[in-house]
Amino acid sequence: MKKIIFLLVLIITLISCKENKTSFVKDATHEVKIEALLSKMTLEEKIGQTNLRGVSSRAKSLPSNIKESVRKGNVGAFLNIMNLEYVDELQRIAVEESPNGIPLIFGRDVIHGFKTMFPIPLGLAATWDAQIVEKSSEIAAFEASAYGIRWTFAPMLDIARDSRWGRIAESPGEDPYLATILGAAYVKGFQGDDLSNPYRIAASAKHYIAYGAAIGGRDYNTVNMSEPLLRNVYLPPFKSAIDAGSATVMSSFNEINGIPATGNQFLLKDVLRGELKFDGFVVSDWDSVIEMVAHGYASDEKHAGELAAKAGLDMEMTSTAYEDHLKKLIEEKKVTIEELNDFVRNILRVKFRLGLFENPYRNKEHTGKFYSKNHLKEAKKAAIESTVLLKNKNSILPLSEKTKVAIIGPLANAPHEQLGTWAFDGEKEHTNTPLHAYKKANTNFTFAKGLDYSRDKSKKGFKEAIEVAKKSDVILFFGGEEAILSGEAHSRANIDLPGAQEELIKVLAKTGKPIVLVIMAGRPITITNIIDKIDVVLMGWHPGTMGGEALYEIINGISSPEGRLPVSWPKTAGQLPYFYNHKNTGRPADSSNFVHIDKIPIAAWQSSLGNDSHYLDAGFTPHFPFGYGLTYTTFSYSNISISKESIKFNEDLNVKVNVTNTGKKAGKETVQLYIQDVVGSITRPVKELKRFQHVFLKSGESKEITFKISSKDLEFVNHKLIKTAEAGKFNLWVGPNSVEGLKETFFIKN
Ligand code: BGC
Repeated sequence: MKKIIFLLVLIITLISCKENKTSFVKDATHEVKIEALLSKMTLEEKIGQTNLRGVSSRAKSLPSNIKESVRKGNVGAFLNIMNLEYVDELQRIAVEESPNGIPLIFGRDVIHGFKTMFPIPLGLAATWDAQIVEKSSEIAAFEASAYGIRWTFAPMLDIARDSRWGRIAESPGEDPYLATILGAAYVKGFQGDDLSNPYRIAASAKHYIAYGAAIGGRDYNTVNMSEPLLRNVYLPPFKSAIDAGSATVMSSFNEINGIPATGNQFLLKDVLRGELKFDGFVVSDWDSVIEMVAHGYASDEKHAGELAAKAGLDMEMTSTAYEDHLKKLIEEKKVTIEELNDFVRNILRVKFRLGLFENPYRNKEHTGKFYSKNHLKEAKKAAIESTVLLKNKNSILPLSEKTKVAIIGPLANAPHEQLGTWAFDGEKEHTNTPLHAYKKANTNFTFAKGLDYSRDKSKKGFKEAIEVAKKSDVILFFGGEEAILSGEAHSRANIDLPGAQEELIKVLAKTGKPIVLVIMAGRPITITNIIDKIDVVLMGWHPGTMGGEALYEIINGISSPEGRLPVSWPKTAGQLPYFYNHKNTGRPADSSNFVHIDKIPIAAWQSSLGNDSHYLDAGFTPHFPFGYGLTYTTFSYSNISISKESIKFNEDLNVKVNVTNTGKKAGKETVQLYIQDVVGSITRPVKELKRFQHVFLKSGESKEITFKISSKDLEFVNHKLIKTAEAGKFNLWVGPNSVEGLKETFFIKN
């Protein structure tokens, strides 16, 4: 009999494997073991697997009720247990004393590093470099696994088009194509090819879905979205992460069109399981199950548990609707035992993939090599490549060796702040700040903070800062935001430099010395009020542990700035949300028609102002466009050509362009290819990134860059919810960012 069951499960599994597109195809022996375990588990133990619990970091010892819960098999996973004795003891109880010895998973937000902190994810996105992203998450996984952590709540793949939203810091930026490339890289880095490798950790693509579209950029806010928009912009990064094998997915806090994501059958069942063929488990976000009560979608916690279960949510983070009510809901036949069995299957599958049944314990020999030479080297490289040069008047940067610099500003020596949001485990004692880097290099500098912290409004430090500035050739002003001003729940309505930073910059400008503004922040910072006072703008994001040396090297020309903006940089928060891949509208903005607010005649006729889609005061362009970033050299583009004027469906188009380094220094260019589907059955964005390539060129060197795109790349989900490319005219640009470039035109013909 047992043999027959085994064979049946094997056959069913093999059939389902065939359809499965993820890189982690179902392992038939796992499936057999899962069924065997399921058949032995009580209802309580099954519910236990769906519970994700924590232990207060203030607990002096492991609470006995928690141990008892694990002993009974009432917990499936833990988060944020950073006491190694607790990790070992809890796992021992689960494996040795719980009814079926099912191991626990220990999870943690390992977002952009564990101990060695890399730049915040928005900074990593500015590298436009999958290898760097993969390496950073591989190192994060390696370090974190030393703490018994085998599951991270990352990558965060929420497209973010609004810099007011604090969580833009954690995001891959505003573009679905870039996010798609980086999403897969994060998963590969965390998980490797074999999740059972004890130095790898399970990823969780989050927050599923459309969390970044919160109205007004206010965290947790309502999301209203058409299905084509959801599918064309917000879904692709998740699809990419799932195709790359993301072991888990986290449902988001927000509602979408009236239904919270955590209780959304359509999103969790039809799309995630049905279409994307996801076969790992879905975890809720923190309390997002019971928050459905506050949303006004569930009448009470029991109802919330029912809605989440009916939607197919496998594991509940922190709140206890499943623990408290699932049994009753099953008795009342509101949830079926088969539904619960599926949750358990999904959770056990990930535990098998992690190799936890064979190897449940933390390897005590594994030191994690925290802050090892190699980890720091990679963190520095990532910080260098994420730094974006936005303005460089008179080529002030790089500075020559003899330049006397005044180091000023609240972020010049802020070891905690430069680690950024979600840096729970990164220790500021290991942070290398710009001041440290200058001290180490023993160069010609003086230092005066000017302001104690980014929000500081006191002017008591101004005098000293001015004196220091007067004695220097160049002012290096390290400004921005403290780490706490971005990240979860930390949205800002005004995204200027906080505190008295602008004021200090304005008084420093009066010294007549050139000002290099180095920004460390979790988002683009609007600098319209001071842009004419500063000569150089270098965006360092929150650059992580090695930010100081990275910035030092860039400022002094030992390295070059290589980052490109993964998000449009607004002039003012009033323009937000702003994104380059917007629609044209019936009245596209046009500089020849634009009348600035200061130029409007008094008592003007209502219709005399060029009725276009713009703001009278802020115009219609961002301060710096998506994809933008200067280097220490210059590049020119020439001879664009396409292989055909028209392609058929499923045919390829080759695009060639020459890129020449026309400057005096070697440098890296990020060559970007955008398209526009001119007429669509639903309107299409004015531009969409479809490819990019990095090219290193010596001074004077030229290279032919080739791209290949096919009609597949031109597909989108239309109003009938069909994914298809449409015949017609396409514009294509190859250039250095989303507004410049050489143009070509081609057609898709039937
Ligand atoms: C955040 C998630 C995070 C979770 C666990 C939530 O508040 O939204 O991104 O993974 O907490 O810390």
